[in-house]
Amino acid sequence: MDVETILTDSPAEAAAHLNRGETVAFPTETVYGLGVDITIEEAVRKIFLAKGRPSDNPLIVHVHASEQVGEVASGISDTARLLMQRFFPGPLTLVLCKQSWVSSLVTAGLSTVGVRCPEHPVAREFLHHCRHPVAAPSANLSGKPSSTDWKSVHEDLNGKINCILRGEHSAIGLESTIVDCSTEPPRLLRAGAIGLDELRAVVPGLLGPAAIEEHRRPKSPGLKYPHYAPSAEIRLCGEGYGTCSGGKKTAWIGLSHPPEGAAVTCRCGDAGEYAHRLFRFFRECDRKNIGIIFCEMPAPEGIGQALRDRLQRAAEGK
Ligand code: TXA
Ligand code: MG
Repeated sequence: MDVETILTDSPAEAAAHLNRGETVAFPTETVYGLGVDITIEEAVRKIFLAKGRPSDNPLIVHVHASEQVGEVASGISDTARLLMQRFFPGPLTLVLCKQSWVSSLVTAGLSTVGVRCPEHPVAREFLHHCRHPVAAPSANLSGKPSSTDWKSVHEDLNGKINCILRGEHSAIGLESTIVDCSTEPPRLLRAGAIGLDELRAVVPGLLGPAAIEEHRRPKSPGLKYPHYAPSAEIRLCGEGYGTCSGGKKTAWIGLSHPPEGAAVTCRCGDAGEYAHRLFRFFRECDRKNIGIIFCEMPAPEGIGQALRDRLQRAAEGK
């Protein structure tokens, strides 16, 4: 243990820690974030150390209101403004041209910056008390599933970060939708709770995710790193995928009926509940030494799109 990790329920107290240059995990409606003051370089460095995060993976900057976006981004396009008007605050990150003062440690040397304004009331109160915008990746060890409750943050980062602002289990449970607005037309970089249809209802020409070849040199650097993966092997099942059978101690998560013999199961009522519970279920399976987790593929509708993306990545170990 390098540092004592303080637990608090007070957004103001958590913000006071952050304003002193400390690392603070906080709840959002997508997943928990691990935040630092964007203007304090030593603090930004602490994030990469605590998570074991590669330094070429940029951080998302969190603001408490749309009006604060201009502090970190410049040349904001009309389409970006439309998306902000419709979806901020919420589970959306926009990639915009950065203001020159924003540290290249935060943006991993890119000329753009990812900006998000969360809707979660505790996150908003916390950000309101923070003196500057807050750089925050998901609050998990690099490569592990994102944390959707404060206990998962504690499991990964106790002794490595200064403070955890406790909140409830993240309502959505998957990371934000990311849209690159630094080029026209904007392009979806990462699927999330806000789907392509909803985005296109506001910006009809918005492009879908890049073709497979581009994933090897992705526009969003984080997409090339292993993500969302528990230690257990992930196998996709359901219509068009394999069946749920394997020799090791197995688990199952999905929407239909659990197979017989699975040691741990999680039957969800709909895709929203599936998303909400997925990452915590992965962690539970690791604690129970599960060898194979069978994940039933949901239909590609609504949040089912983002869920399929995360399941596919977890199955491929990337
Ligand atoms: O819901 C979320 O987005 C959560 C909460 C805490 O806000 N954050 C999150 O952060 O998932 P992280 O660091 O785990 O994922 C951020 C992703 C990475 O894939 C990163 O490469 C991408 O955003 N990203 C950040 N800045 C970018 C930029 N300027 N251009 C392209 N991609 C960027
Ligand atoms: Mg992450």
